[in-house]
Amino acid sequence: MSGGAGRVYLNGEFVRRSDAHLDIEDRGAMFADGAYEVVRYFGGRGFALGKHADRLRESLAAIRIEPPGDVERFAGVSDELVACNGLADAELYWQVTRGSGPRGHLFVAGARATVLVIAYPSRALVVGGEPKGVVVVLREDLRWHRCSIKSLMLLANVLAKNEAHEAGADEAILHRDEVVTEGTSTSVFVVRGGELWTHPADQWILGGITRAIVLDVARAEGMVVRERAFTTHELLTANEVMITGTTTYLAGVLRADDAVIGGGQVGPVTRRLHAGLVGRIAGECGLGG
Ligand code: PDD
Repeated sequence: MSGGAGRVYLNGEFVRRSDAHLDIEDRGAMFADGAYEVVRYFGGRGFALGKHADRLRESLAAIRIEPPGDVERFAGVSDELVACNGLADAELYWQVTRGSGPRGHLFVAGARATVLVIAYPSRALVVGGEPKGVVVVLREDLRWHRCSIKSLMLLANVLAKNEAHEAGADEAILHRDEVVTEGTSTSVFVVRGGELWTHPADQWILGGITRAIVLDVARAEGMVVRERAFTTHELLTANEVMITGTTTYLAGVLRADDAVIGGGQVGPVTRRLHAGLVGRIAGECGLGG
């Protein structure tokens, strides 16, 4: 959507991309002083928008930004943006920053939050499709201690993701002293001894919305689910490893560093949970299959 095509939502208005301008002293640009969400549209319908709006409000509360009224209207704004850009399958980016003012660490009294929504075209959901197989690398988690906040401050994620890319991998899975936390933009699960494990939703990971749905699907299928931390060794020797996220859905990990996982094939639990997740999306978005 760069280069002027389409419309974006900026501070209450739907404007052409080429007419959308941020102040050079926006605190989002200078301090990563803001929070964001990424949501998906399938066949013109938004998925889990209420959950994303709730998490955005929680992120903003955690960093002491009063949620602007736009957040209450993000579902409607997003519907309109998807429609006016002629999209049906889309990825939307919601961003709220603390606004702008003369550069300084202290909050700027009276500054108005900057609100931005961008819609990008994306692929349609394939109901009945197979989960993707991916390759990952393991990297030290160098982020701060408040990873449950979906903050704009993504430099550690950006660097780790690029290291993965340069190593020919799709994602970097992060660990703190050998305890696996999450991927740079995904939640991580392992299957061991027939149980599904994922890191607890505490300060060390983002409480993924896809993660919560997958846990729900697994419980509904009668699986033993444990929100417990696990080590890199437990990941490398797991029966199955999977990553989840809004843009990833649910993908099976075939290789992590030099270790082949599950014989290099997407495993049966991964397939089942993927089918369950796709079913939930299709159901909420009214897609046939
Ligand atoms: N990323 N962990 C991190 C660090 C993330 O950035 C994300 C999402 C997830 C998965 O959360 P969810 O299931 O709610 O999308 C986990 C978004 C998609 C992004 O930054 O593009």
